[in-house]
Amino acid sequence: MLRINPFARLLSQPSCNLCRSRYRLENRVIQNIRTSSSAAAVAENDDVVAAQNNYKIIQEAGNFEETEATRPDFDHSKPIEITKSPFPQWNYGDGVPDNGKSLGQQHHEIDPYAPDRPMISNYRLVVSGIAPRPIGFISTVSSDGQKNLSPFSYFQVLDHDPPMFIVGFSSRPGRVKDTYRNIKETGECVINTVSENMIEAVNATSIDAPYGVSEWDVSGLHEAPSTTVRPSRVAESVLSIEGKVVDIKEFTDHQQPGMSIAANVLIKATRFWVKEGTVNADYSHIDIEKLRPIGQLGGISYGRIASTFERPRKKWDQEVPKSEFLAKLDAAKSNVK
Ligand SMILES: Cc1cc2nc3c(=O)[nH]c(=O)nc-3n(C[C@H](O)[C@H](O)[C@H](O)COP(=O)(O)O)c2cc1C
Repeated sequence: MLRINPFARLLSQPSCNLCRSRYRLENRVIQNIRTSSSAAAVAENDDVVAAQNNYKIIQEAGNFEETEATRPDFDHSKPIEITKSPFPQWNYGDGVPDNGKSLGQQHHEIDPYAPDRPMISNYRLVVSGIAPRPIGFISTVSSDGQKNLSPFSYFQVLDHDPPMFIVGFSSRPGRVKDTYRNIKETGECVINTVSENMIEAVNATSIDAPYGVSEWDVSGLHEAPSTTVRPSRVAESVLSIEGKVVDIKEFTDHQQPGMSIAANVLIKATRFWVKEGTVNADYSHIDIEKLRPIGQLGGISYGRIASTFERPRKKWDQEVPKSEFLAKLDAAKSNVK
């Protein structure tokens, strides 16, 4: 069997006849492998170009400046109003007390993997339907010291004991997101919160800057030192969470030609930093008036908290004696253990 090292230099011509024919064969195989591997590289590039042409996540916003000029100014001093809840007289078993209005329409079933279902339709559906989403503003450093700062709203806190967080990195044409690359390389990050006054700077960091350009510079936001991880905190954020990677799930079975891999990353907090003056005396509750969180909605929309209402959570044992409805459910409950 002819064993070939595709990366070997072409062999120099030997003197004997047998050796010469073997030499020609070996060199032909090497040439073929080189041609096919460079053909593969071209095919790969073609795939990336095709993927790039199909990539519609970043929507053209048309003449956005003109549209925005017609809108009222952002009111920085608007207090967060506290109202009653939508149906304060609600009782157990009432469902949605709107005279059946919310049951008026049928639902349409969608198979997200149907061959005629474009990926972009799934994107638009999930980001407009799962809203508002908190924004994890993530600071990372590559193993060779390149700094990165980008927003992610496929993001959530999962638990408090231990404090756990998840981030979803979407695929894109060509290379993976720099944040994901850094997180995978170093296992470290800082998750920072996003308040109303930060949103233009945060949105700007989502630009597809080339690897090696720091979004700290792009945004003008300020770095503050961390203690348990290398990446900096965002000094403007009310809450920052230093964290280390616990697990990564890459969706290799779903990778498309020319697109980077998509991945979910599970992060465990190693430190909290909370801004003085935004939190109560024992550092356990952040004032929403000070946090002023921004949520990401569908399309290019963001939302602020304009009003809140309260609704206490109840305990079964205390509620059953007060409610005939719950007492009936309690009496009829299955005894299966
Ligand atoms: C508010 C906001 C939320 C975003 N959420 C995500 C997300 O959850 N996952 C993702 O892959 N990209 C998300 N993006 C896009 C990334 O921020 C963008 O691709 C960025 O260029 C990634 O930067 P990086 O390559 O430096 O990591 C979001 C962008 C914005 C503006």
